[in-house]
Amino acid sequence: MQIVATQRLPGPAWETLPEVEELETWPPAAPLPGVEVLVAVVARVSPPELDLLPDLRLVANYGVGYDTVDVAACRERGIAVTNTPGVLDAAVADLTLALVLACRRRLVTADRFVRAGGWRRGWAQPELLGRDLAGAVLGLVGFGRIGAAVARRAEAFDMRVVHHRRSGGAPLDELLAGADVVSLHVPLTEETRGLLSRARLGLLRDGATLINTARGPVVDEEALVDELVSGRISAGLDVFAAEPHVPERLVDLPNVVLTPHLGSATVETRAAMTQVLVDNVLAFLRGRALPNAV
Ligand code: 8YV
Repeated sequence: MQIVATQRLPGPAWETLPEVEELETWPPAAPLPGVEVLVAVVARVSPPELDLLPDLRLVANYGVGYDTVDVAACRERGIAVTNTPGVLDAAVADLTLALVLACRRRLVTADRFVRAGGWRRGWAQPELLGRDLAGAVLGLVGFGRIGAAVARRAEAFDMRVVHHRRSGGAPLDELLAGADVVSLHVPLTEETRGLLSRARLGLLRDGATLINTARGPVVDEEALVDELVSGRISAGLDVFAAEPHVPERLVDLPNVVLTPHLGSATVETRAAMTQVLVDNVLAFLRGRALPNAV
């Protein structure tokens, strides 16, 4: 059975797969008949790409979020889709807290200040005063495994955690208006695209911080950039609307911390994600039930 990958994956589990051909480009330059398994790493898989893989039967997506895969189109063609849930919650939650701390304690600005030789007046740096996490309200939008892992960490910092989710919790607009820090933990679906609209961003308190380690299109990015340029709020952003594009207007802002989609990017977590993906591919090859079919 022919297996192709848009990219080689890290960790020892990769070597336990039968031969995998690494594609030079995605989508492939020419049709690939005979390929039955595609390992997809942040790769769009929709009808035009599927047309190039006429014999495809499994898309194994590297990541818990599978918004780049047109699952309905796959289903119509009898192609199964799997993802890698469960093993990256801690890593994403850690990065979320790192961004909360970086924004609220102005870590990146402070680092630049020291490197630029600006530290000349003892410890009195009024321009670098941050805000306490203790006592601050953290509003979580989405409360699945990752949201809950963020809540546990935030509670250790004595934050007051509230959450909103489809099936309950605080009403979204109320949460946005009442939180010091808002963090997004929803998947990107038609329901969540643009969830943080311009009007909703306007509900955020002056001085509030928005953290996004979920998916860029959950937020109206242009409206967010306008708010950040105005200096009214701050943000820690790991994800963007059209990655790897980062809006030019963000680059010089002191009230934004930018990371390049690093949520799951640790040695241990990426290896664990590879293991989950490999388990799914091996189950498929052996004709067994797929552990993480979506
Ligand atoms: C990336 C993620 O997919 O799991 C997700 O949904 O966003 C990340 O883990 C992964 O890093 C692919 O490179």
